[in-house]
Amino acid sequence: MNFREYKIGARMFGFALGGSMCITLFLPSFDFRSAVSTETALDKQLTAGWETGWNVYDPLMLGHNKPLKVLVKTDPKSGQPLAEATYAYVYNVGTPLPNGIDHPDNLGESVEKLSETKGQIGQKTANGTVYLIKHEGNVPYIENATATMGWTPDMVMKGASDSDISHAGAGKTLFVREGCWWCHTLLPEQTQDWQVFGAPPMLGDFNGESPTAFGSDRKAPDLLHVGSRNSSREWMMLHFFNPRLVQPHSIMPRFDYLWGKVDANGQKIDYAKWRTEYDEYHAGKRIDPPDVPMYAKNSEIRDLIDFMLSLK
Ligand code: HEC
Repeated sequence: MNFREYKIGARMFGFALGGSMCITLFLPSFDFRSAVSTETALDKQLTAGWETGWNVYDPLMLGHNKPLKVLVKTDPKSGQPLAEATYAYVYNVGTPLPNGIDHPDNLGESVEKLSETKGQIGQKTANGTVYLIKHEGNVPYIENATATMGWTPDMVMKGASDSDISHAGAGKTLFVREGCWWCHTLLPEQTQDWQVFGAPPMLGDFNGESPTAFGSDRKAPDLLHVGSRNSSREWMMLHFFNPRLVQPHSIMPRFDYLWGKVDANGQKIDYAKWRTEYDEYHAGKRIDPPDVPMYAKNSEIRDLIDFMLSLK
């Protein structure tokens, strides 16, 4: 064999190793905090709280210790109708705060300044905190409504009906736990993808988010904007109970176990009976598939569907 071939190989190896060393050494010198939070970033971190991967506040990843996102139509303090309904992010005592509130310099300079001066996010509150997203010109910022207006979590929750309350923060934990990212991305990639799945995210959309759940390689539709193209809770219910009910050739697994033991009326869910009837339907012995049970308000599937519908 010719010696020259070894020399080419050695150079190529050196080039690859050198290139990867450069990335490893220089990428950390990029200052991620120079990215200024967008409104999307503020909404994401206030909705999801501190962390949706494994963490000490929720070691079994059950979606515990998460904030609630509540649509507020009347001023919780005075009871007067608001000119415009607004979302409030409710943090009860003990719910860990999002990254941008613990470390405001991660919000980016302009957003940090407004959140601290006008929004008073640094103020300590004893009985939990309610946050809002406000704007000054084009710049969004976080407001501590407990400090500025005296809105407490109790007041906000008292005025809210169940359909105004979103458990999307807990749902995002389940998205991570259930491995949805093994097939789905939250990152539309270039050209045709953008036409089908919508606009790609911007750098400032990720401030304070952990983990980002970009997904591994893609086996299924991108979900970054899924709530914009499909906002049907009923469709989501059928699809999660058994994807083959709505997409006969789907390879997506069933997530029926997220319904838990009982349905919305407190009746025990008989999974074995359901599957027998479904098999009969599949074999052509029944005309209709069995009905999918309505989930209980505090079930895991409710959290997950709330998260799906929050992806606008
Ligand atoms: C084995 C791969 C796989 C896994 C794991 C998986 N999915 Fe899917 N999913 C698919 C495929 C394939 C489709 C497209 C066919 C269909 O609709 O069933 C899909 C479709 C969807 C849709 C409809 C998308 C649209 O464009 O309307 C949603 C919503 C969804 N999945 C959510 C989830 C969630 C949430 C999880 C985790 C709990 C999950 N999926 C886990 C493969 C997967």
